[in-house]
Amino acid sequence: MNVLIKGGAGFIGLQIIKHFLTDSRYHVYNLDKLTYASNIDSLAGLESYKYTFIQGDITDSAFVETLFENQTFKHVIHLAAESQVDRSIEDPFVFAKTIDWYVTNDVWIETILNGSNRKNDSFKIK
Ligand SMILES: NC(=O)c1ccc[n+]([C@@H]2O[C@H](COP(=O)([O-])OP(=O)(O)OC[C@H]3O[C@@H](n4cnc5c(N)ncnc54)[C@H](O)[C@@H]3O)[C@@H](O)[C@H]2O)c1
Repeated sequence: MNVLIKGGAGFIGLQIIKHFLTDSRYHVYNLDKLTYASNIDSLAGLESYKYTFIQGDITDSAFVETLFENQTFKHVIHLAAESQVDRSIEDPFVFAKTIDWYVTNDVWIETILNGSNRKNDSFKIK
């Protein structure tokens, strides 16, 4: 069972990935841009688990759509975001970008996949 964690190299994502990897039914895909907020070193040593890291930007629609074309996910967990409040004061538009992408693209993807019964028909937003 494939699960996609977006922002899996961040504070919450790291814990969720480790949780999923305790259950051998899951193959965990971690899609993360690796910004200043990420801590990929904490995910070192996972070679023996069903774990795949993909470096990429969730706001790159073509990249994300290709990923969904090539892989089936049972669950998608969205944690990729700007999360530091102080930075939102300096540049609120950086924050809006990841939120906008989530609202417009993830909801759109869910709509078309559920509607067309394609291979990702079990896709759910958590
Ligand atoms: N940590 C908390 O206590 C808390 C509480 C409530 C809500 N949240 C929310 O949960 C989410 C995750 O929080 P967190 O603390 O793990 O954040 P975090 O900043 O630690 O991690 C965010 C991750 O998202 C990645 N990322 C950022 N922009 C990206 C992009 N465009 N494409 C791909 N990856 C990108 C970063 O590299 C990072 O690894 C955020 O939306 C946050 O606001 C967090």
